[in-house]
Amino acid sequence: MSGQFNEADWIWKDGEFIPWEDAEVHLLSLAVQFGSSVFEGIRCYATPEGPAIFRLDAHIRRLFDSCKIYRMEPGHSPEEIRVACRAAVRKNHLDECYIRPMVLRGYGAAGLNPVGSPVETYLPCWPWGEYLGEGALENGVDVCVSTWQRPRPNTFPVRAKAAGHYNNAQLIKMEAVENGYTEAIVVGPDGVVSEGGGQNVFLVRDGALVTPAMDGSALPGITRDAVITLAEDLEIEVREETVAREALYTADELFFTGTATEVTPIRSVDGITVGEGEPGPVTRELQERFMAVVRGEAPDPHGWRTVVEG
Ligand SMILES: Cc1ncc(COP(=O)(O)O)c(C=O)c1O
Repeated sequence: MSGQFNEADWIWKDGEFIPWEDAEVHLLSLAVQFGSSVFEGIRCYATPEGPAIFRLDAHIRRLFDSCKIYRMEPGHSPEEIRVACRAAVRKNHLDECYIRPMVLRGYGAAGLNPVGSPVETYLPCWPWGEYLGEGALENGVDVCVSTWQRPRPNTFPVRAKAAGHYNNAQLIKMEAVENGYTEAIVVGPDGVVSEGGGQNVFLVRDGALVTPAMDGSALPGITRDAVITLAEDLEIEVREETVAREALYTADELFFTGTATEVTPIRSVDGITVGEGEPGPVTRELQERFMAVVRGEAPDPHGWRTVVEG
């Protein structure tokens, strides 16, 4: 098979393992026709205790929230999915990987009413390195503010991590890359900063950490929540508030958070250098803390690691 995946051998599908290449859906399934699919992105890290999944409970909770919002019944309990995630990592003999739970509407209904289409659950996982490119975590990335916006509340329910919503994310990403940037920051319908194309965004200003308040246009990231908690543990002031676009230009430091993105420094926005143009001390400290926790090199006081074998 071709593609940019570092393919694994097995994919969990509704209680059994099927070979990677057999995980196919019909052309006319609702997932393909209308983007009727919800998903998660979870990382599993190599730790001294063996592979450990980061914030598995929070991710599976959000998966079930997404299902509920879109009226999908996966037919498995959250505990069954958590157990299956661990089994998928074990079955593929992976130390570190990205796990992509997907609940989708398959082949059946011909129109928009999904009754009649089966709901299918898949758990692929595969090794995946730095999402924003090699060296991004160390050196930071150059970004722009997108000309696209995040959706207005009560249009696409952004608390659901739904495949169809990511058409917006793809427009954002394609435009950014076409114009020579790695990623983009996006404003919401009110013109204030919402998040990145596929990650949340933080500013540092005068030693305080600032991030856009959840206003119904951004995904409440699990990494965002972890970084806020780590900052509070370090007694760094954290504010969730309205962030104007120009505050990005005048920030002392800027960084993205996300499961795939981890904690990635931002060194410029729209060609304007952020701070000194290299990752700042608060970003570095939070990034190091985060990586130490996920890799099992620091204690886990918040119970975020699930050891796969455990
Ligand atoms: C649109 C969007 N915002 C934010 C995030 C970050 O969320 P998390 O930290 O839970 O991965 C993601 C990634 O899942 C995303 O796709």
